[in-house]
Amino acid sequence: MPKKKFAKESATIMTEMVLPNDTNTLNNLMGGKLMHWLDVVAAIAAQKHSNRIVVTASADSISFKEPIALGNVVTLKSQVTRSFNSSMEVFIEVIAEDIPANKKIMTHRAFFTFVAVDQNGKPIEVPEVVPETPEEIEHFEGALRRRQLRLVLSKRMKPEDAVELKSIFNLTEPK
Ligand SMILES: CC(C)(COP(=O)(O)OP(=O)(O)OC[C@H]1O[C@@H](n2cnc3c(N)ncnc32)[C@H](O)[C@@H]1OP(=O)(O)O)[C@@H](O)C(=O)NCCC(=O)NCCS
Repeated sequence: MPKKKFAKESATIMTEMVLPNDTNTLNNLMGGKLMHWLDVVAAIAAQKHSNRIVVTASADSISFKEPIALGNVVTLKSQVTRSFNSSMEVFIEVIAEDIPANKKIMTHRAFFTFVAVDQNGKPIEVPEVVPETPEEIEHFEGALRRRQLRLVLSKRMKPEDAVELKSIFNLTEPK
């Protein structure tokens, strides 16, 4: 198993079409269906990076700003941004396309966290991520504070230990 892997090695693209069974009564894609696709495309990227079984540990807040209509073609792109010990943050971008109308919009961006596990479900170490492009470097650098936010919110980290978060909110200790 390599100790380091390029971010691009985990790049994954999944294309789906919104069919009648995927929609709500307004003929738009159901939120839960989109979350299922996000989970699948992100899990594949995490597997490519770790060459392991992976489980979803968390999904950051997803807001549904733009509806995706029946018949649209949905492209989901995912890539691991950074790994820690056993966990990996995955960035996902969603593009909805009305092909007959020649319209394409970016509808969602999300971050999911996966943990690589062994056959008994025990977390196992994963390779480091090597970012190359400016976007990969930006995602890599931001991953530490997003991880701390998740761990504080899930009560796995004490707020006072979230050093990266404190620095962005400029929270200095009182004198
Ligand atoms: C995710 C899971 C493997 C973590 O196991 P654990 O015994 O808590 O293990 P640890 O405390 O050693 O944590 C392992 C890693 O998970 C990360 N993690 C755990 N919960 C997390 C959360 N809510 N958000 C982000 N990362 C999380 C930890 O930070 C740690 O990362 P690191 O190894 O890179 O430092 C375990 O909680 C699990 O199996 N959950 C169910 C997963 C599942 O079934 N998902 C599908 C949902 S239906």
